[in-house]
Amino acid sequence: MRAISSLLLLAALPAVLAVKTEDFKTCSQAAFCRRGRALSERAGQDPNWKSPYTVTADTVAISPDQASFTAGVRSSLYPDIQFSLDVRVHEDGVVRVRMDEVNGMGRRYNETTSWALIAEPQVSRDVQWKIGKQDVRAVYGPKKDVEIVIFLSPLKVVLYRQGKEQVVLNGLGLLHMEHFRKKEEPKPAPEAPEGDVKTDDAQAVMQAPPNPRAWFEGETEDGYWEETWRSWTDSKPKGPQSLSLDISFPNHGHVYGIPQHATRLSLPTTCGDNSYYTEPYRLWNSDVFEYLADSTMSLYGSIPVMHAHSADSTVGIFNAIASDTFIDIAQPDAKSTYTHWISESGILDVFIMPGPTPEDIFAQYARLTGTPALPAHWALGYHQCRWNYVSSDDVRGVQKRFDEEDMPVDVFWLDIEYAEEHKYFIWDKKTFPDPKDMINDVSELARKMVVIIDPHLKRTSSYPVYKEATDLDVLIKQKDGQTEYEGWCWSGSSAWVDFFNPKSWNWWKGLFKTVQSNSGKFAWIDSTTDVHIWNDMNEPAIFNGPEISMPRDSIHYGGWEHRDVHNLNGMLFSNQTYQAVMARTNPPMRPFVLTRSFFAGSQRFGAMWTGDNLGTWEHMAVGIKMVLANNIAGFSFSGSDVGGFFGNPDPEMLTRWYGVGAFSPFFRAHAHIDTKRREPYLLEEPYKSILRDILRLRYSMLPIWYTAFREASVTGLPVVRPHYVVFPQDINGFEIDDQYFVGGSGVLVKPVTEKGATEATVYLPENQVYYDYFTNYAYRGAKGGKSITVPAALHQIPLLIRGGSILPTRERPRRSSPLMKNDPFTLRIALSNAGNARGELYLDDGVSYAHKEGQFIWREFTAEKQGKTIRISSADLGKAKPAEAVDGVALVKYNGGNTFAKSMDLVRVEKLVVLGLDRKPSRVKRVDGGELDWSFTAGTAASDGKEGTASILVIKNPVTHIADDWAIDINA
Ligand code: GLC
Repeated sequence: MRAISSLLLLAALPAVLAVKTEDFKTCSQAAFCRRGRALSERAGQDPNWKSPYTVTADTVAISPDQASFTAGVRSSLYPDIQFSLDVRVHEDGVVRVRMDEVNGMGRRYNETTSWALIAEPQVSRDVQWKIGKQDVRAVYGPKKDVEIVIFLSPLKVVLYRQGKEQVVLNGLGLLHMEHFRKKEEPKPAPEAPEGDVKTDDAQAVMQAPPNPRAWFEGETEDGYWEETWRSWTDSKPKGPQSLSLDISFPNHGHVYGIPQHATRLSLPTTCGDNSYYTEPYRLWNSDVFEYLADSTMSLYGSIPVMHAHSADSTVGIFNAIASDTFIDIAQPDAKSTYTHWISESGILDVFIMPGPTPEDIFAQYARLTGTPALPAHWALGYHQCRWNYVSSDDVRGVQKRFDEEDMPVDVFWLDIEYAEEHKYFIWDKKTFPDPKDMINDVSELARKMVVIIDPHLKRTSSYPVYKEATDLDVLIKQKDGQTEYEGWCWSGSSAWVDFFNPKSWNWWKGLFKTVQSNSGKFAWIDSTTDVHIWNDMNEPAIFNGPEISMPRDSIHYGGWEHRDVHNLNGMLFSNQTYQAVMARTNPPMRPFVLTRSFFAGSQRFGAMWTGDNLGTWEHMAVGIKMVLANNIAGFSFSGSDVGGFFGNPDPEMLTRWYGVGAFSPFFRAHAHIDTKRREPYLLEEPYKSILRDILRLRYSMLPIWYTAFREASVTGLPVVRPHYVVFPQDINGFEIDDQYFVGGSGVLVKPVTEKGATEATVYLPENQVYYDYFTNYAYRGAKGGKSITVPAALHQIPLLIRGGSILPTRERPRRSSPLMKNDPFTLRIALSNAGNARGELYLDDGVSYAHKEGQFIWREFTAEKQGKTIRISSADLGKAKPAEAVDGVALVKYNGGNTFAKSMDLVRVEKLVVLGLDRKPSRVKRVDGGELDWSFTAGTAASDGKEGTASILVIKNPVTHIADDWAIDINA
């Protein structure tokens, strides 16, 4: 199948025109991408195309412990150049394929995984390699149904499950690792090595013989040694070093992932007949002004992770490369997917995740790059931001208005204008004369502040942070490797800390200390530990740089060029900030760090947002898809600016946007400096009251969100889950990306993103009852899926509870989430068709790391039908699953009587709400005791599966301690 290659030629959709696209390169404006796509075009035109790369049979070696397979690889075009191949199977079945040039004239960047992975993965001991004449293969897995095969000539790597191809590397023969070479003056071409030229049109080659490698590499050295684009010239001291690789997913018709792009979740094609886009997806972290809501353009972050999905299986890959990468996607027959990855530099280092379920992929990926950090509980509350709250009194005033209007909020944010001349850490004393008092006024109501620290340092010696960075020699250098790199950002002429330099790490930590040490170094003493951090512009954004960023030939620690590490840059910054914020206190407290730029692994260091979106309905809608894409790529803690960063949304749009935000893992309103103020209390009625209700809804559901975040932090499962993740076999759900589930709770939401909507269509994937969260109306799904219409007037959010779920909520409105600590719980028990239900609640102190020592409450609630009785009970999951953690922290110390659980002794369950009983009970009592107080409202939904309002049983004050085991019988 030559899908990518031949079909590329046919892609002829008009380019989508947009604001500021001219600031960023298209594939045809980047020489390495041009070369990669041209390679694919040539391959597509040649029915006899064959990869020139082969494994040298006599170099094949299996390590003594059987752990890995290594071999030499050569290209028939350059027989003197050596490559090494290393293939290994990890304990969990992930296959790592690595290839690099060896003994060459240069070094390819090979350190991406040292930043992205949490540890060197353990290699499986359960693999038996078999060396054959044409291939090397290993069968493995608990069922011995997975097989990895390395075909020797040409080189091709295939993962099979049950004999079916799942993932294929170099199946289309587009692998090309450009070796290091000397720049040569044009001279007559060398003789063609025998039998190499594999083209249809041998004659054409004969007529233009100067370059016998042209069939593969092209006629000219296109942009090998230097590249000029607009006013910038990229010197390329190492010459060409790009990497092209095709990765195919036979038998998988959908692919997801590779955030960040403003596009659908199921990624549309970029080449082939009727391809949706013409440009490949790009991963090159970029500050894109007024980005498009439907595009393959690169945005602020990059996670080179892709899932391929079918009703039979899910597989995935993590392509650990941090340089500029373009990805073409073709789906010629809707059954299989072909992708072509073209990167500017770096080694080949691909992790093949065999699945076969989405859940397996999340676990496999989490074992590589880590699970998301468990955030502080308050960080799941509502965040109020704008560019800018202009003074400390402004902050106080905003806080006062929230309280007057009884609107909950946890965090007030300060954007760049707090800092004198945008010298971060340095308060502008004209407007913020009393920063500590201001912070304390906020924290008095158990709230926090988040303050921005950007990575550009104003180049003036009176700025201690810049001065210390210069003295320590930790700034990024120009291409000469000596002179400090200078560029333009908010602070004017600026320099950038090189976080690849370990010397910068301790120093950076010191800056955030809130007490002066005797080192005499800068410490942020006019701040407090209630301040957390927002890291922005860390792509890095540089206003006068190429593509609004840093020249690719700038030099980082270790002599690496910026081109090699660009996509890692943002992660290193937020990582160091995260460590710094954690190190302020002893014992450490959970930091909150928001980052704009990110890479695979960034989930370990906090939250991200989707950058400078526009106040339009399209941006509101695509924000949901972007958050879902981030979630399935391991980075759950994500959201988009509520209201849209640019523009002045009308009250209807703003109201709907709060509905989107309240169902995003990260919930923050933010706005550009030129926009009108739009804090929720400023709206007229009825909008103001609707916003209050939405904020309160978010707070009442915090136990559900926190439980979902905790699960993500342990298993890697996403906090918000699209349909293909929850119902992997339901083909109707594979493209759904406008409704999703919150964790494993059974909450299904479809935020409204359409102007003037009064109803919404929600897809129910199964034969199950789904209850309207607000009205308890019981909708019935059907086998094979069914769409229903639900009311969605402005005050309504389509929010359903999947039958069979138990939801813990806290219904008392408070001013901030820590003030809810001792509030009682309500359990909403939504019975399934069969009369059963299940749910979880996870709780801990919300701020410290004591949970790692077993200080938490983790309950499992169940409702089980036993004859005519339904028994509702609560059991200790912490005890049942003491060592579930995959992050290396086995929770062995857990015991039900831990100090945290004891501190919650006064926390009750104040109400059980049971939805969907067939009939009025005769009796409701605790298994260990007396009758309970209850009331019953009959519903109109008949037990024969008709729609209508569900019956509601309310049981008052059934349980005095949330941490206790208990059971209640409802007798018919
Ligand atoms: C960038 C950020 C935006 C912020 C602004 C000023 O545009 O994306 O959120 O408000 O910089 O700091």
